[in-house]
Amino acid sequence: MSARPLSVLVIGSGLAGLVAAVRATDAGHHVVLVTKAALPESNTRYAQGGIAAALFPDDSVHSHMRDTLRAGAGLCSTRAVRILCSEGPERVRDLIRFGVDFDRDESGVARGLEAAHSRSRVVHAGGDATGAIVENALVATARQRAARANSTLQILEHTMLTDLVVDAGRVTGARTVHDGNPGTLSADVVILATGGAGMLYRHTTNPDVATGDGLAAAWRAGASVADLEFYQFHPTALAVPGTPLVSEAVRGEGAVLLGRAGDRFMLAEHPDAELAPRDVVARGIARQMAAQNGEPVVLDATGLGRGALERRFPTITAACRAAGLDWAEQPIPVAPAAHYWMGGIVTDTWGRSSLPGLFAVGEVARTGAHGANRLASNSLLEAAVFADRAVRALGTTTPTATDPVPATQPTATATPTPTRTGTGTGTGTASAATPGLRRALQDLMWESAGVHRSGAGLAAAVQTLALWTATEHPRTVAEHEDRNLLDLARLTVAAALGRQESRGAHHRADFPEPRSELAVSSAWTRADDGPH
Ligand code: SIN
Repeated sequence: MSARPLSVLVIGSGLAGLVAAVRATDAGHHVVLVTKAALPESNTRYAQGGIAAALFPDDSVHSHMRDTLRAGAGLCSTRAVRILCSEGPERVRDLIRFGVDFDRDESGVARGLEAAHSRSRVVHAGGDATGAIVENALVATARQRAARANSTLQILEHTMLTDLVVDAGRVTGARTVHDGNPGTLSADVVILATGGAGMLYRHTTNPDVATGDGLAAAWRAGASVADLEFYQFHPTALAVPGTPLVSEAVRGEGAVLLGRAGDRFMLAEHPDAELAPRDVVARGIARQMAAQNGEPVVLDATGLGRGALERRFPTITAACRAAGLDWAEQPIPVAPAAHYWMGGIVTDTWGRSSLPGLFAVGEVARTGAHGANRLASNSLLEAAVFADRAVRALGTTTPTATDPVPATQPTATATPTPTRTGTGTGTGTASAATPGLRRALQDLMWESAGVHRSGAGLAAAVQTLALWTATEHPRTVAEHEDRNLLDLARLTVAAALGRQESRGAHHRADFPEPRSELAVSSAWTRADDGPH
């Protein structure tokens, strides 16, 4: 650890935040862990498939790297991917030490196959309850640490980050709101682990807390952000209210997708059919849905048998039952939903952002490990690997010459300058201060910056969002969240408009192919004349 104990503010309580808080506490630092809702509520809790890692004798770090790089469609950092895949197995063993009981079969730890993996390497717990089991184990660990006599870990629940405090270019703390009361927490180092922002979209697998608070605050504070045009849509959410996830592992076990006529339409889309990369399957489903007037496609898992479905996928079985569906008997309706943001706060491979004093880990960070399209079950792995590294790097917050933060490469066409002070309402249906704002924003994002995009649709969305306004002096959690979502929606559509090609999860009808000269990340800071 660094020479002296630091005061460390960790914001967010998914896997990344909990690992960072526990590790930093164990390293002797004084840690305050802040989270917007109750401690266990996070995106991690809803992860189903599992954690990918080269843990088995017939697998290798190299093979995992190759699959990750291929899914990333030319935008991964090879260095970040190498670290992810080579340190991943030890971080999975750490989780076992923290109390995670991964499922076992007759050959030892059980493993599943997921799309775009060249072999089975996804370990899981509780069948399809991996995220909940991982989250519970780490919550228990954090609570134990906090309960010790003379503990240096304090946990503040129901406390929302509203903005970062920046003093002479260095992040020195965070502004918060708790029970409607504003506050300020000071620290030597802030580690953001606030996750993604599925709430940007009408349909999402994310919980309500996923409003991108850390990313928006970092952007406002002047941190470099990148790859925001790359939002991953999970191909199969159950097409019922709440859009619960139906894990890719179900297709890995042999379930197939069918159109209205009972045809396996994915066979015509990709040689790997249902196990093609996530973006390919999501687009295939969206195309099929368009051809059947928006009606969801169905996932036929009946061939797996009731016993196997209930044993291996108890979470999905319960979600189906709650929706009045029996998936052992009949195919279930599924559709794509916003799932994971590849873009985020630019960090080096030690979690350090472009702002001294600020680290970012987990989904809020853009490490370069996912490129334009994250490989299934690499997200919990990334959270564990880079949270661990960030704690090891505490006290060395200035990037070194050998591990640079990627250079800023603003995209000229991606920098419209909407204002946050306009008074219009764009489509005439929304104002940021009204209860209808969030829904209108989610609809706009789904239609114009969703699975399929076009230059015209994105340009219109830029104009519309420029006219919407956020509450000038947000006070409640919902008002702060709306401000964050509006900031992030503007950034996302501007980034998507600027990327005049299709790559990974970003697909434009007017530029349907990748362009080799654009195989670079687009990183921006607020000073680049981006949105605002
Ligand atoms: C899934 O179980 O399909 C989700 C896993 C992931 O997003 O990596």
